[in-house]
Amino acid sequence: MKRKDIFYKTKKNIIIISVTIVFLCLFIFTVITKTLYSSRLFNDVDRQILQQKDMLERISPNSINSNEGNILDEKGPSKSPRIPPNIIVIVYERGNIDFISPNAYFNITSLPDLAKIEKNKISVIEHNGYTFRCTSFDNKQYNMQVFINVNSELKSMKQLTNAIVISLIVLIIIAIILSAYLASRIIKPVREAYNKQVFFVQDASHEMRTPLAVIKGKLELLANSWGDTIDTHFEHISKMMSEVRSLEKLNSDLLLLSKEDVDSSINITEVNLNDFIEDLSDFYEDLADMQDKKFYVNKTKDNIKLQWDYNKIRRATIILIENAFKYTSSKGEITLTFEDINKSILIRVKDNGIGIKDEDKNRIFDRFFRSSDVRGKNINGSGIGLSLLKSICKTLEIGIKVGSQYGKGTEFILNVPKVMK
Ligand SMILES: Nc1ncnc2c1ncn2[C@@H]1O[C@H](COP(=O)(O)OP(=O)(O)O)[C@@H](O)[C@H]1O
Ligand SMILES: [Mg+2]
Repeated sequence: MKRKDIFYKTKKNIIIISVTIVFLCLFIFTVITKTLYSSRLFNDVDRQILQQKDMLERISPNSINSNEGNILDEKGPSKSPRIPPNIIVIVYERGNIDFISPNAYFNITSLPDLAKIEKNKISVIEHNGYTFRCTSFDNKQYNMQVFINVNSELKSMKQLTNAIVISLIVLIIIAIILSAYLASRIIKPVREAYNKQVFFVQDASHEMRTPLAVIKGKLELLANSWGDTIDTHFEHISKMMSEVRSLEKLNSDLLLLSKEDVDSSINITEVNLNDFIEDLSDFYEDLADMQDKKFYVNKTKDNIKLQWDYNKIRRATIILIENAFKYTSSKGEITLTFEDINKSILIRVKDNGIGIKDEDKNRIFDRFFRSSDVRGKNINGSGIGLSLLKSICKTLEIGIKVGSQYGKGTEFILNVPKVMK
């Protein structure tokens, strides 16, 4: 399915991007660590070689007793304090081997390859499977070479590399698992919003189907009865007009709802509760007269000043009053009560209309939900009013309570904070 594809792809992309970032960071970290570690390790070795070179350059070649194989100390090289045990010194006199300090790697029959050792520079050579860093230099007729075996340093470098590779693999696996988990968490609300949107469009078009079908049927009927005068078909025309009106209402409700969903910004102004009450009651008193219903308003104290989003709270209250009118038969009573309780104003909208069945009470705030008897009785509506109310109340942190007895009446109570943040 296409919808699944989008989420699958997004999730895959999130995982790939985050793992690549983690990998790059770790890779850079590895390169820096290895470079620093190896340069520190070999700098030490090179420093020792160069120190030894310095010292040997300062020795007068006259002090070299080639017969005894001793250039460094009259007491013999093995006892010489000047050659540390890890350093090997080899001396040639005019191309002939003159001296080899005691060591486990070179002897007269197994000498390092001279060609590979650069003069006055640090070189790296291999000999019988061992690796050495070394240098070569001349002192009068002598050519001297200084070697240090670096196998242990290479071994520790290798161990470090292995440790880094293993931790890299473990970290990458952890990164994959974590990013997969995070990607699912990130996508969840997006998927929910997307599904909600899809269902919303489906429901909306479903709601439009009935009035459209009615209008189409009536129009076909009119089209087939040409020659008739309009008044013979007045009933059909008025039915069509009523369906068009409900489509109009549905359209404006949908617009309001999607606006509330997208832009839930709050516009707070100072509101005088009396003005608010008057604004509402004037219109509905007239409507009650027209519909032969009673509309009562119970005010509270005068001059209560509120910090309210006037339009939103007005819209919320109107949704409730209109429902109360709609779901109350003629001679019914609708009461709008305002109560001042500490930090809030309670707005109660009470009617003695058809009431709500217990099993419907949890569903009346769902989009497009209308109870079966309301649908059956052909009372106009879109089922959006209360879900819009719920959205508004969520934005403004207004509490909603419903009390209803089926067949007897309903009361909605809004708990509106006096000061909105
Ligand atoms: N005052 C009321 N009395 C009885 N039923 C109500 C009342 N208010 C709401 N309802 C029930 O809740 C449903 C949803 O209300 P609403 O979202 O305003 O949609 P609509 O009024 O367009 O049907 C109504 O269809 C009705 O079944
Ligand atoms: Mg309604």
